[in-house]
Amino acid sequence: MTSDTLIRLESVNKDYQMGEVTVHALRGMDLEVPEGAFTVLLGPSGCGKTTTLNLIGGLDDPTSGKVVIEGEDISSYNERQITEYRRDSVGFIFQFFNLIPTLNARENVEFALALHKNHGDVGEKALGLLEMVGLRERADHFPSQLSGGEQQRVAIARALANNSRIILCDEPTGNLDIGTGQQVLRVLHDMSRERGVTVILVTHNTAIAPMADRVVHIRNGAVEDIDINPEPSDPDELNW
Ligand SMILES: Nc1ncnc2c1ncn2[C@@H]1O[C@H](COP(=O)(O)OP(=O)(O)O)[C@@H](O)[C@H]1O
Ligand SMILES: [Mg+2]
Repeated sequence: MTSDTLIRLESVNKDYQMGEVTVHALRGMDLEVPEGAFTVLLGPSGCGKTTTLNLIGGLDDPTSGKVVIEGEDISSYNERQITEYRRDSVGFIFQFFNLIPTLNARENVEFALALHKNHGDVGEKALGLLEMVGLRERADHFPSQLSGGEQQRVAIARALANNSRIILCDEPTGNLDIGTGQQVLRVLHDMSRERGVTVILVTHNTAIAPMADRVVHIRNGAVEDIDINPEPSDPDELNW
C-alpha cells in the first residue's frame, strides 16, 4: 500500500442471492484509491460499479474480502461504527438527485447539516455551501423550480454538509443534458482540486474519463485496467 492510499479493496467478492441463483456481482476486486484523487470507475452496465460504490460507502457488506478505509477494515465494523462512518466520512450523490421535494434548496442542505454537531448559524452555513456550488441566489427555490443540473448541485452542497473527505457519485450526470452535466462535473472537479476531497465517480460514459486523475476500468466484477492521466482535461473541454 502506498502512503497516500485512502481506500483499498482487497480480494472483494460480493454475491447476491436471487432465489436459487447466485449473482457474482464482484469477483476478486482489488482497488486502491489515493487520497485527493479524482477517480472514475468506468464500465458497462452490470459490471459491478454501483456495488463497488456501495461497499466503499458502507451501505453494504462484502461476501468476502476487505474494504479498508484509512487503514481500517470497515467490513468488520459493528452497526454503530458503520453508521458513524457513513454519517461523518462519506457524501453520496445519485443519478436522481434525491432531494426532499417539500423543502427548498437551503432547507435541503440545512437538513443534512442538522445531522451533525454544528457551531454557528446552520442557515448561514447552508447558504455558504450553496454559494460554493453557485446557487446562493436559488436558495429559496424548491426542487421542482430548479433545473436538473441545479438540483444535482444542491445534492452536491448537501453531500458536502458533513465535511466528508470522500464523495461517492453514482452516474451523477446520467439524467442531465450535456450543458448541465458539464456544470455538475465542474463543481465536482473544483471540490476535488480546491478542498482535496477524494471523489469517486461511477459512469458508463467514456466521455467523462479524460477529466479524471485515474480511470479504473471494471469488467465482470473486477478491475481490468487502470489509466493514469498525467494531465486531466478541464470539464469544459470534454467531448460529449
Ligand atoms: N440487490 C441485488 N440483488 C441481486 N442482484 C444484484 C443486486 N444489485 C446488483 N445486482 C447484480 O449484480 C451485478 C452488478 O450490478 P451493479 O453493481 O448494479 O452494476 P453497475 O452499477 O455496473 O450497472 C448485476 O448483474 C446486477 O444485476
Ligand atoms: Mg449502477
